Amino acid sequence: MILSVINKKGGVGKTPIAFSLAKDLGYYLQSNDNSVIESIYPEMAKISSTPEIIENCVYDFGGFVTSGVLPILKVSDAVLIPTSTDYNSILRTVETIEEIQTFNSRLFILVTKTEKESDFQTVKDAISAHFENLEFFELRLSKAFKNSIETGLSLSELYDETPLSRCAYKTVYQQYRSLLELFKGE
Ligand SMILES: Nc1ncnc2c1ncn2[C@@H]1O[C@H](COP(=O)(O)OP(=O)(O)OP(=O)(O)O)[C@@H](O)[C@H]1O
Ligand SMILES: [Mg+2]
Repeated sequence: MILSVINKKGGVGKTPIAFSLAKDLGYYLQSNDNSVIESIYPEMAKISSTPEIIENCVYDFGGFVTSGVLPILKVSDAVLIPTSTDYNSILRTVETIEEIQTFNSRLFILVTKTEKESDFQTVKDAISAHFENLEFFELRLSKAFKNSIETGLSLSELYDETPLSRCAYKTVYQQYRSLLELFKGE
């Protein structure tokens, strides 16, 4: 199983989401971004400007420009595109989808950092207006992602830590769980 997490827009959550999914799935993690993943996921994570295709790996990509990204996107079993709710992020996401869907149709859009009930639907409607048959998921704004990168614990591990964390991360964990189940089943 090869899973790519990509959006040319920065700050949408690619790295924390890629890390958590990789750790919970027991997969390798490769990134061409500068990040802390090698130190928090030793032996399993690698930062490289030219990523290699390996089985059971999550790829964290900032865009297509770097060499080696396109072949990996082509063979990915799923391509996860996180987007935040702001206008600029939605525009970049529409561009990203347009570029990728010509060679990979297994796209999943993940609306991140939602703050109120209507955010998810608003972003979903804005993106759906341009495309048919996209699948959408939501991950609400949460400190869990910052904590995850700081502690090196996946979202599931953080959630399971204490009764307090189970309470604090309940909603976002449930949302994350449905994403995890999707990729477990792939
Ligand atoms: N629901 C959420 N999903 C993802 N990130 C979230 C969420 N809520 C809050 N965040 C925070 O948003 C930030 C997004 O992560 P980050 O900036 O690493 O994204 P990125 O897409 O990897 O960016 P870059 O392209 O710069 O590498 C993090 O600080 C994270 O803690
Ligand atoms: Mg990143």
